[in-house]
Amino acid sequence: MQQFENESSRPFTMGEGELCCGGVSLRALAEEFGTPLYIYSADQILQRAQLFRSALWQRTHTVCYAVKANSSLAILRMLGEQGCGFDIVSGGELARVLAAAGEGRAAEWAARTVFSGVGKTAEEMDAALSAGILMFNVESEAELRLLENRASAAGVRARFALRVNPDVFAETHPYISTGLSAHKFGIAIALARHVYVSFATSQWLEPTGVSVHIGSQIRQVEPFAAALARVLDLVQQLREDGLPIRYVDAGGGLGIEYADAHFDAREQVARYVASLQQALGDLDVHLLIEPGRFVVGQAGAGVPRVVYNKHNGEKKFVITDAAMNDLIRPALYQAHHEIVPVVQPASAAVEIVDVVGPVCESGDFFAHDRTLPVLEQGDLVALLDAGAYGQSQSSNYNTRLRAPEVLVQGGKARLIRRRETYLELFAGESLG
Ligand code: LLP
Repeated sequence: MQQFENESSRPFTMGEGELCCGGVSLRALAEEFGTPLYIYSADQILQRAQLFRSALWQRTHTVCYAVKANSSLAILRMLGEQGCGFDIVSGGELARVLAAAGEGRAAEWAARTVFSGVGKTAEEMDAALSAGILMFNVESEAELRLLENRASAAGVRARFALRVNPDVFAETHPYISTGLSAHKFGIAIALARHVYVSFATSQWLEPTGVSVHIGSQIRQVEPFAAALARVLDLVQQLREDGLPIRYVDAGGGLGIEYADAHFDAREQVARYVASLQQALGDLDVHLLIEPGRFVVGQAGAGVPRVVYNKHNGEKKFVITDAAMNDLIRPALYQAHHEIVPVVQPASAAVEIVDVVGPVCESGDFFAHDRTLPVLEQGDLVALLDAGAYGQSQSSNYNTRLRAPEVLVQGGKARLIRRRETYLELFAGESLG
């Protein structure tokens, strides 16, 4: 097994026969907080965000962390304190950003927040207008009309960007690709100029930027540059039309390595930023980017315990106490997550197994036909690269409690979310 610790790959290392995160034993954390649990390296999260910021030093920019990737308050606070902005997609995520900021800083953090998503409601718009967010990334004419209406009711001007659909293909899983006209996202780039111009005289709308997001887990940088080049043409046209476009939002989407293969995060960011810079040329704009997965994905691991081993005919199943409700990515996107034992097994023997959870669905699996060291009942394993879209996509399906989260920083671990209780789960229900 390769070593997982350097700023380029994963913050998990085998030290003295045990997997550690920043010097802290995962076994000790599992014993203290129970399983399944999520463990994150704060150091790596901060390093990753900093990689983008350093690479962009020559240009006015804001790294708007995509809250959906991992929306835990402690992580938002840490990133906000480092100077990051936020990309939100719901009133709930706005509330999280404001809670993470705390009262004294709420206005300042809101001013670094952009609001994306195809279905913003009037209530969500009102909350974001009242918080004073940087801008709305608007995805349809109907949404722009509602925004104008809400801004007028609040007596404030709403800053907005149209999220354009550049019709650029980026290779990724079809469920997380967004930049083609076949997708529900954005306004066709060919129509965007017309929409901007037709709202130009509105007293309540301020055309502030143009935004684009072509999808997620994109490993090549060329599609980002291609999309941005189209955006730039539009910015130039809009400026000729007299619109004061100051921001270009390039979205998120830069992918990570999920396999057990070499990955150099610094080099990836350098290539990504170079391609954005090349597309932008000397255009004078404030660049926003919305990375999510790249910042938190490799910093996190899910840690379940093996509950049973079981044979069905030829097939062997390793049943863990984590399930698809804790990490749905394999079930939803056929995603690959490396699985490693937390304590180095005494024997080098391996076997081919399915790693599954206790939920009553065949889709409840973490790996099919995976060659792994022989795992015994009670052993701990780590599901790697689970920091993004792991906990944030978890649910209570099968009335399972969502896992706690632990953040490791400077060699110390702290619980940032405790395990739920059944009473909390039932709190909103009545017996009718
Ligand atoms: N900005 C917008 C407008 C987005 O829709 C997304 C992700 C991001 C930024 C952040 O993208 P990232 O840098 O994380 O790739 N649950 C899926 C991924 C869904 C991504 C949705 N949008 C998964 O687990 O792979």
